[in-house]
Amino acid sequence: MNEKNIIVGLDVGTTKVCTIVGLQHPNQELEIIGIGTHPSYGLKKGSVVNIDKTVRSIQSSLEEARLMAGVNISSATIGIAGSHIYSFNSSGVVAIKGKEITQDDVDRVLEAAKAVVIPSDRDILHVIPQEFRVDNTTGIKNPIGMCGVRLEAHVHIVTGSIPLIQNLVKCVEQTGIEAEHITLQPLASSEAVLSYEEKELGVVLVDIGGGTTDIAVWKDGSLIHSQIIPIGGNHFTNDLAVALKIPHNEAERIKINHGSVLAEQLNQSAHITVQGMSGTKPREIQLSLVAEVLGARAEELFDVVRIMIDDKKLLDAVAGGFVLTGGGALIKGMPELGEYILMRSCKIGFPIPFGGMTNIMQNPKYSTVLGLLLEAAKRKPYVHIHGQSQANHRVTLSKEKDTPESSHDLIGKLSESLKSVFKEIF
Ligand SMILES: Nc1ncnc2c1ncn2[C@@H]1O[C@H](COP(=O)(O)OP(=O)(O)OP(=O)(O)O)[C@@H](O)[C@H]1O
Ligand SMILES: [Mg+2]
Repeated sequence: MNEKNIIVGLDVGTTKVCTIVGLQHPNQELEIIGIGTHPSYGLKKGSVVNIDKTVRSIQSSLEEARLMAGVNISSATIGIAGSHIYSFNSSGVVAIKGKEITQDDVDRVLEAAKAVVIPSDRDILHVIPQEFRVDNTTGIKNPIGMCGVRLEAHVHIVTGSIPLIQNLVKCVEQTGIEAEHITLQPLASSEAVLSYEEKELGVVLVDIGGGTTDIAVWKDGSLIHSQIIPIGGNHFTNDLAVALKIPHNEAERIKINHGSVLAEQLNQSAHITVQGMSGTKPREIQLSLVAEVLGARAEELFDVVRIMIDDKKLLDAVAGGFVLTGGGALIKGMPELGEYILMRSCKIGFPIPFGGMTNIMQNPKYSTVLGLLLEAAKRKPYVHIHGQSQANHRVTLSKEKDTPESSHDLIGKLSESLKSVFKEIF
């Protein structure tokens, strides 16, 4: 096996660390050959709070994936989230130098678009082109070769706190692998879950993880808004533990096996037996009480999403509705309650199968890591044994397929510059 064609997605989540190893074939296909998942103990709300515990969780997940794939892992594309992430839209304008727009003009206009003042403790993670305008023509995805005198770029910029990004990279690199690229988690989940048509029509991806809910809003094939909400599935579990005075693992078991956010979906008189805190006897509780507790938290979460969409005036833009993914989307009744509060269609988003994906992987909690693998595949072309590169279009779920090459390069360069900062510090 040519190890140059091994790519890896690594999702360091609040509840689990997941590694997927992919093998790229010369026929432009991507095959999943290794999977490793391990509970995550060192994160809170998407950010590292304990380096040693995080390193150990990553190590275990990498080891499992490495054993299954039978290959060495030297680098991975990693995801980032956490409430320190802040994104905004920006634009830039340049005069076109020659008769036709060249790569150099595109690079200059993207530089102009990201020339905004950001606090010194933040760094830019992504500059994602939304559209280009040449003179009075709007909605251009790739302006190279077009004629005009004025080039304008509209971009979505994602920034994060430098120390928090460094903590994540440090944890990954302490396991002996390189953090090759850093990708915003909802971008990765969108890659794995959303179709081209949904992104064109307008859709909101809502990735409900353990510690955070990550939002990505798409319209006309471009990312128009992204945001991290510090509420996730763990809050639902904690609410149950507090309300029913039961241990956290028992609350988690009840949420997964008997939970619903809609009391109407349950047999109102049904009861279940719950284990109390140590030293207390098991007792019977009404299922509708569980639904009441979980329903209150789900309502709060959907209200936050609705207010965010209203504030940004995006409701009319998202005719495709809301796609819920992440493990937290699996609580019974979530799409129905979401639809009621958000006033748009709401469904669960499962990863779109590829590369011999097993049934186990077709679970919303693996959307991010599968998206990270797809991102890694897009960035790393197939390499022949003798070292030649092939065109890099093997993945059909491409979100940036209309994006000019320069933007990939730019994002790559940004990650490179980010890495050099880390290297200087560590
Ligand atoms: N079948 C299920 N029913 C209900 N909830 C579930 C189910 N499976 C997982 N969950 C919940 O999903 C959450 C974990 O989701 P996920 O694995 O997507 O999070 P994560 O990636 O570890 O965290 P984050 O993205 O916030 O860093 C947990 O709160 C867990 O209880
Ligand atoms: Mg996650």
